[in-house]
Amino acid sequence: MITMFKSIRWKFVTIFIMLVLIAIVISGVFIIEFFDQYNKEQNELRLDALSALMLPDLQLYSDLGASRDKINKLIENQEALGFREEIFVMQNTRIIATSSTNPDIRADQVGDPDLLISGMMGIEKKKIINLQDQSGTLRVMDKVYPIKTKDGISGLLYLRYNLEETDSTIKKAKMIILQSTVLALSITIVLGVIIAQSITGPINDVTEKAFKMARGDFDQYVEVKSDDEIGKLAEMFNHLTRKLKLSLNEISREKNKLEAIVNNMADGLIAVTKLREVLHINPRALDILRANDAKVTKDYDTLVDVLPEVLHFDVLINRHPEWNGNEVVELNGVTYRVRFEPFANEKGEKEGFILIFQDITEHQRLENMRRDFVANVSHELKTPLTSIKSYTETLMDGMVDDHETTQQFLSVINDEADRMGRLVRDLLQLSNYDSSRSSLEVEVNDWVTLVKTVINKMNVHVKSKSQQISLVSDKESIRAYFDYDRMEQVITNLISNAIKYTPESGKIKLMVIEESDNVVIKITDTGFGIGSEHLSQIFDRFYRVDKARSREQGGTGLGLAIAKEIVELHHGYIDIESEVGTGTTVKLRVPTGF
Ligand SMILES: Nc1ncnc2c1ncn2[C@@H]1O[C@H](COP(=O)(O)OP(=O)(O)O)[C@@H](O)[C@H]1O
Ligand SMILES: [Mg+2]
Repeated sequence: MITMFKSIRWKFVTIFIMLVLIAIVISGVFIIEFFDQYNKEQNELRLDALSALMLPDLQLYSDLGASRDKINKLIENQEALGFREEIFVMQNTRIIATSSTNPDIRADQVGDPDLLISGMMGIEKKKIINLQDQSGTLRVMDKVYPIKTKDGISGLLYLRYNLEETDSTIKKAKMIILQSTVLALSITIVLGVIIAQSITGPINDVTEKAFKMARGDFDQYVEVKSDDEIGKLAEMFNHLTRKLKLSLNEISREKNKLEAIVNNMADGLIAVTKLREVLHINPRALDILRANDAKVTKDYDTLVDVLPEVLHFDVLINRHPEWNGNEVVELNGVTYRVRFEPFANEKGEKEGFILIFQDITEHQRLENMRRDFVANVSHELKTPLTSIKSYTETLMDGMVDDHETTQQFLSVINDEADRMGRLVRDLLQLSNYDSSRSSLEVEVNDWVTLVKTVINKMNVHVKSKSQQISLVSDKESIRAYFDYDRMEQVITNLISNAIKYTPESGKIKLMVIEESDNVVIKITDTGFGIGSEHLSQIFDRFYRVDKARSREQGGTGLGLAIAKEIVELHHGYIDIESEVGTGTTVKLRVPTGF
């Protein structure tokens, strides 16, 4: 109930009522006051007129008491003229004549002492008096007129006008004003309620909808009914709602986008607050921690329990007071670079940090390969250099004087120089493939011819080791697009390997066949074979199963690596199968169409 009267509607109504009431009361009071005043003036004028009619006659009698009959006659005359006033003619305390029905009373019982005294002193005076009689209070206007003769004041003319009529008129007027006030107030209340309703209705509507919006329902629009301030409020509210909705949509779109990025990024991400609470963890990070969604705890330290100690909260913060830096850790055989950085709240205070796990295993492998490669190259170059240097020094010392030894030394130097030359040539070739600087010269050539030519060239070596070499081919010729010189290099290397790593009187078998748009070449030997543990690395640069034997045979350890590069440039495939003690088969498959 109290809240109801607090509402604007009731304030409006109350204010209206007050205004109307004040206006009516003020104007009512003024009107009645004026009316009363006017009546009094009119009444006094009547009294004055009556006195003016009587006084000249009364002044003629020097002794009023003796002229009582004439005076009574005079009074009757006035009554005949229509005057309703009570008339008393007094001499001292006596009433000489009167229009009143009760003449046997004394002057001081009728007249007001104030007026009587004033009359005796020769001064006209009027007064409004409340008379008490059996029927209640009666208001009258009394006025006294001294009767002046040449001998002095002979008596008083005392007139009394009954104000009953005037008073009843005023009463009626008051009644009318009261009635009109009630009517005006009723109209005011109704109008006030209607006007207040028209104002508070839309405001209540806005309030109600704003309340719904605060609870998250943004589909709230208010009806714009008018063009005034309230209409503008409603319009503004709708504008605000639209704006808010747009901003919210944009925010949620951005959030979705970010979430999609975070969830799909290749790196693991964990966001942690300074209270060690896990804010976010993306699927990749779950993967890395071997955790699953259901098991994720909000507690950072529990979550990263499996990680090395450097990533535990206290250790991390101690090592990096600025909350940013890098750590490299290993987990389940994978190497991660963990980058972390602080994030701040809107005031710029650090709120926590994010950890980003980047898998650098491959990077590390390549880096290791690069290091090994440099070490290998240096080593491979140093070995022949050392022997060239020592043979040259021995020769220069002049200690060797026989021609035969000198020749032998020089031929070793020559061999070593050749080896270095081969090494440098192979390295250059590989480096060209790496930087894809060398392009193939692809033409239509015949694979059978190529293999036959290489076999012929290598025959000397086969013979010197008393080995047998044979070729099986289902076709006279297999024509295809390929770079002849490069492929000759590949086949030469593979046959040379078969010769080198097969003991004397071993057998080498070549097979060239066409198989659904591919040429397949197999080189099988009955050599030492390769242990299965080496097979996965056999195509790596400088990888050799038996370094000493390879070097003894003049190998650089780059042959298979180069072969693989060339075959792959032809969109082909090279594979090696082997068994220690039984032999080795190298298989090539190259598309004929290129
Ligand atoms: N036919 C084969 N039989 C046995 N081992 C082989 C054969 N071919 C290659 N290998 C092994 O693979 C290694 C790499 O060969 P390659 O790259 O041609 O280098 P290189 O011949 O200069 O030693 C050789 O050192 C050898 O240990
Ligand atoms: Mg070789």
